[in-house]
Amino acid sequence: MSIEINSRVHPEKWRIAPHVLDLETSIIREILKISSQPGVISFAGGLPAPELFPLEDIKKVTLEAIDQYGADSIQYSLSSGIVPIRELFAKRATEEGSISTTANILITSGSQQGIELIARAFIDPGDYILTENPTYVGALQAFDYYRARYITVDMDDDGMIVDQVAEKIEKYQPKLIYTVSNFQNPTGVTMSEERRRQLVDLAAGYDIPVIDDNPYGDIRFSGEPMPTLKSLGGDAVIELRTISKIIAPGFRIGWMNGPTRAITQFEKVKQCADLHTSNFTQYVIYEYIRQGFLEPHIEKIKADSLAKRAAMIRTMDETFPPGIKWTRPDGGLFLWVELPAHMSGKELLPKAVEMKVAYVYGEPFFPNGGGENTLRLNFSNATHEEIVEGITRLAKLFKENL
Ligand SMILES: Cc1ncc(COP(=O)(O)O)c(C=O)c1O
Repeated sequence: MSIEINSRVHPEKWRIAPHVLDLETSIIREILKISSQPGVISFAGGLPAPELFPLEDIKKVTLEAIDQYGADSIQYSLSSGIVPIRELFAKRATEEGSISTTANILITSGSQQGIELIARAFIDPGDYILTENPTYVGALQAFDYYRARYITVDMDDDGMIVDQVAEKIEKYQPKLIYTVSNFQNPTGVTMSEERRRQLVDLAAGYDIPVIDDNPYGDIRFSGEPMPTLKSLGGDAVIELRTISKIIAPGFRIGWMNGPTRAITQFEKVKQCADLHTSNFTQYVIYEYIRQGFLEPHIEKIKADSLAKRAAMIRTMDETFPPGIKWTRPDGGLFLWVELPAHMSGKELLPKAVEMKVAYVYGEPFFPNGGGENTLRLNFSNATHEEIVEGITRLAKLFKENL
C-alpha cells in the first residue's frame, strides 16, 4: 500500500515557506564535516575537550537524581524550569553582583535557544539588531530566520567600540543590542569595564535591551576578573548562560536571566517551542552542582585551556611569518587570526585540509560581509601535540601563500 501511495507523492512540491527554503545550513557545520575526516587536526569546532567530561561524577549524580526525585524527574514539568536549579542559578547571579530570584531565570535548551526565543519575541522582518563585527554565527543564523537586518559595530582589543553605538541607535533604532562580552566567539576578545558601563548606560537611556551571550565568562584562565554586564546593567541586560562549556554541551541546559516582565513573555514563547527543557537533565545537573562538583571541574577546564592556549600562541610566535596578527585571549575557547589583506581564509582552507589541518574562515561571522582575510582557531579540543603540529602546518601554508 505505502509503495503505491509513495509513487504518487511529491514532497518537492510541498509548499515549505520560502524563508525556510532560503535558509543556509551553518557553514561551520559544513566545515566540521570536512575537518572530521580521519587524520585532520581540527581547530574548527567549538568543542570542549572530551577527555575532561566528568563521566564518572555524572554517572553517580544521575543515579542519585533518579533515587531522589523519582517519577518527578521524568514527568512533564514547568516551562520556566525546575525550581531548585533556578534557585541555584539565581544565587550564582546574586553572588556575581546581580540580585536575582527564580522569577528572573528561565531554563533554556542551551543558550542557543535563549537567542532563538529572544529573536522570536522581538523581531519582525526588517528589524535591526546591533551586533559586534564580527559576531557569533549561531546567533546570526537564529536572527536570519526572522529576517533581521544588522547594524554592526567594529571591535578592538577592548571589545565593541561603544563610542560608535549611540549614533547607530539614533539612525537605525535597533530592537536589540547583541554582544558576547567575554572571550568572544569568534575573536576571543573581552569588553573592557569602561565600555561595559558605557554600553549599559546607553541601553537604559534608549530602552533597548542588551543581550549578553555569556557562555565563556566562567573560563577565565588569566588576567583580572571583569564585572558581568548583568551586574552593571541590572534590568537593562538579558544574560544568557549555559553549562555547555563548563560541564558538557550534550545536556542542552542553559539559562536566561532578565527582568521578570520579559521572562514571562519568553516563557510563553518557550512553551510554544518545546513545553520545557528536559527536567531529567535539569535534575542531573542540579545534583551535580549542588554536590559541589562544578567549581573544581571549572578549575580543571581552566588549567587545560590555559596550557593549550599557551602551546598554540607559543607555536604561532615561533612559526608564523611577519604580517599576520592574532589575539591572545585570557579565557574561552577561541583565538582570531588576521592575515595580510590580500590573503583569503576561505581560499586557503582547501589547501589547509590537504595538509590535514582545519579552521573556520572568518567571513560568516561578519553580518554584513567582510573579513575575507580572517580565520578562527579553537584551542580547547585538540591535544597539546596536535596543536603544535597543526599550527606548524598552518605556518607553512601561510608562508607559501604570503
Ligand atoms: C557565543 C555563543 N553563544 C551560544 C552558543 C551555544 O551554546 P549552547 O550549547 O549553550 O546552546 C555558543 C556555542 O558555541 C556560543 O559560542
